Amino acid sequence: MLVIGCSGSHNLAKEIAKGLNANYADLVVDKFPDNEIRVRFSKSIKGRKVILVQSFYNNSHSVNDKIVEVLFAAYTARELKAKKLFLVAPYLAYLREDKRFEKGESISAKIIAKLFKIFDKVFIVEPHLHRFKKLKDFFPNAKKISVAREISDYIKKNFEDYILVGPDQESWQWVKDIAKYLPKPSVVVFKKERIGPEKVRILKRKRKQKKKQEAIIIDDIISTGGTMLEAAKEAKKFAKKICCLGIHGIFAKNSLSRLKKYKVMSTNSIPSRVSKIDITESIVKELKRG
Ligand code: R5P
Repeated sequence: MLVIGCSGSHNLAKEIAKGLNANYADLVVDKFPDNEIRVRFSKSIKGRKVILVQSFYNNSHSVNDKIVEVLFAAYTARELKAKKLFLVAPYLAYLREDKRFEKGESISAKIIAKLFKIFDKVFIVEPHLHRFKKLKDFFPNAKKISVAREISDYIKKNFEDYILVGPDQESWQWVKDIAKYLPKPSVVVFKKERIGPEKVRILKRKRKQKKKQEAIIIDDIISTGGTMLEAAKEAKKFAKKICCLGIHGIFAKNSLSRLKKYKVMSTNSIPSRVSKIDITESIVKELKRG
């Protein structure tokens, strides 16, 4: 077995390799002067089970470059006769566009699923599922990895008098999974309307909420931070302190500084200064199951 760390996931991939007791190598990725990329395996691939680990966010390589990188690596691994080919996506981008909102528009979630048919299996940490309720509805070779256990362990260690808050209807799927591992937590889920890519509105709640010390707002993604900021305004009505917990901390457009009034944290699916929750264990467990 060979674990390959792609440009978005070197550290996490190394930890996964340790957990699996497998060999590890970085994928060599070079950029030509015109920005075309070239990938190269530095270890032999033939006859091996190859696990590529790639998280799709922007660092020195863009999300889109990372897709090309992984596809080049996958086709090369096939040509070089890998026995099995897996992709682990700690964060998989492009799943939010799961419907043709405007005439003629692309449905990126379906296109990504088609592009990644090259893999025997694609393991996705907490994929964004909204109009498709299950991965198998559009991505037959994909498997979800839940990291609810690690998140709830973190909450148990770091919070006492708290309420879990879902900022919108879809967030219920993550909130409920995390709540399962906590001793009878208080939970509330808001309703959200999206006005534009960076603007949302949280509908005011009529029902009174019991006061708590801290509200932990849980969402799968923090991108511009708009959802968290609006949800925090509503949560402040019943909690003294606010914690914004995004499973995947994209933090587009410097949203970490927009959220600086609050405690912010995420998992290490995307590494950052607030990615405090390590998800290696759940990934390794799922890979061992195969
Ligand atoms: C979409 O519904 C997702 O679950 C998140 O709520 C959304 O992506 C967060 O984006 P932003 O931080 O830009 O509000």
